[in-house]
Amino acid sequence: MVIRVKTTRRKVFEYDAPARVVAVLGGQLSDEGRWLDSQMNGALSRFLKKTRLGSEFGEYATYATEDVEVVLFSLGKRRGHTLEQVREAGVRLAKILARLNSRDVVVENFLASRFGKKESSYALAEGLFLGAYSFDKYKSRAEQVRRNVVIAQGFGPAVDRARAVCAGVYLARDLVNEPPNVLNPVELARRAEEMAKESGLEINVFGPEKIQELGMGAYWAVAKGSDNEPRFIEIVYRPEQASGRHLALVGKGLTFDTGGYSLKPPASMTTMKGDMAGAAAVIGAMKVIAELNPPVEVRAYIAAAENMISGHAYRVDDVLKAYNGKTIEVLNTDAEGRLTLADALAYASEKKPEALVELSTLTGSCVVALGAQIAGLFSEDESLAREVARAAEEAGEKVWQMPMEPAYKRLLKSEVADVKNVGNRKGGAIQAALFLAEFASVPFVHLDIAGPGFAEDEEDNPLGPVGGTGFGVRTLVRWVERRA
Ligand code: BES
Ligand code: ZN
Ligand code: ZN
Repeated sequence: MVIRVKTTRRKVFEYDAPARVVAVLGGQLSDEGRWLDSQMNGALSRFLKKTRLGSEFGEYATYATEDVEVVLFSLGKRRGHTLEQVREAGVRLAKILARLNSRDVVVENFLASRFGKKESSYALAEGLFLGAYSFDKYKSRAEQVRRNVVIAQGFGPAVDRARAVCAGVYLARDLVNEPPNVLNPVELARRAEEMAKESGLEINVFGPEKIQELGMGAYWAVAKGSDNEPRFIEIVYRPEQASGRHLALVGKGLTFDTGGYSLKPPASMTTMKGDMAGAAAVIGAMKVIAELNPPVEVRAYIAAAENMISGHAYRVDDVLKAYNGKTIEVLNTDAEGRLTLADALAYASEKKPEALVELSTLTGSCVVALGAQIAGLFSEDESLAREVARAAEEAGEKVWQMPMEPAYKRLLKSEVADVKNVGNRKGGAIQAALFLAEFASVPFVHLDIAGPGFAEDEEDNPLGPVGGTGFGVRTLVRWVERRA
């Protein structure tokens, strides 16, 4: 659905539109609802009584006459609301609006009296945008539904911000949803270039020669098995006033992960086009950052590759040399993300960012630990960990800090090299994070988004459809803004 969102200073009943949405709290009409009700001579309250709309969040009923459609949307109980519920109400509403006959709708600014017009407008608009998303470019017959939403008594700049942020989330979702035969590393780089050009960002892209010449031996090993060439992508946002300091973002960019010779079983391979969700989040975030103009330089890095099998693919038992000079014994070619990230992290670190946040669909182990909706947050820098966790919370994305247990470091000791790329099965997500820490030499946070990066079924993602979620975009934008 294509959705437009604007605001008006007027109340729901004062704004002329063929469709209106008001809230129901604890089974009763909101203030906006009551004003509208009296304008309609009590028709709404009579309808509400008849429908017996419960006080379950998300329940709704539509009162329709020849010239007006009114949606009564339940926000649950009278009290104890969170801003997250406003966002989720927006998501649900987007779906409800698609089923209305009218294109133009005026919506109450849900819970504005509780959270303030600015915060509630932001959450509602963000929910509407996120919920309206669909990916149907490969469907022969997809009907394009359009809706124009006006938030009554809304705060315009908050909606503008939500629009900018969600444009980044949409881009990230599109990149993840794109099939791997279309979106290979070369195409990922092309899309990043397209975004950079549109947004006025600097971008540098390296191919196989430069990757090898730079000494990115771990990344190259993963990439070389595919006929689709790797692309190392660097995107730079420079604020008007340069301060000399900068922040770095790194995203895992495996456009497909077969597992390599440590081949994945078929059922585990089905979502592996989403193994570039970290890269997608970083590209999406850079688009938003360019739009919002925070006063700090940001550099993003993606080592894009495809993990395939062939006569020139890397093997188990291979020993690789990473960009920072450390040697790695490969014991599992399916632990490829950390190899590509090793070089990206070392390269990013060399430029001395003040802090670095890296996102990757890194381990199935993290999905077992935290499920489909929560990312694992790892850092040896406690204050940076708290900072990123806070940004995530403010942005409405769920993360949970996991320990960087030093005692597990010895699990990565190798007989023949400095480290090996896998330890054992116990605490696999932690071992992966400890491996990454060997290659970053600046304060950094690792977000394992293997769970929330890709929604396999409806329940996995309350903020949108199945497929790419765009997880991380909102957190990264918040973090950069706070840091600036
Ligand atoms: N891309 C996968 C991790 C993954 C799993 C992402 C499920 C999303 C959903 C990663 O490259 C991988 O295969 N990791 C292995 C590591 C193991 C070999 C140590 C894993 O998690 O099984
Ligand atoms: Zn893998
Ligand atoms: Zn992978």
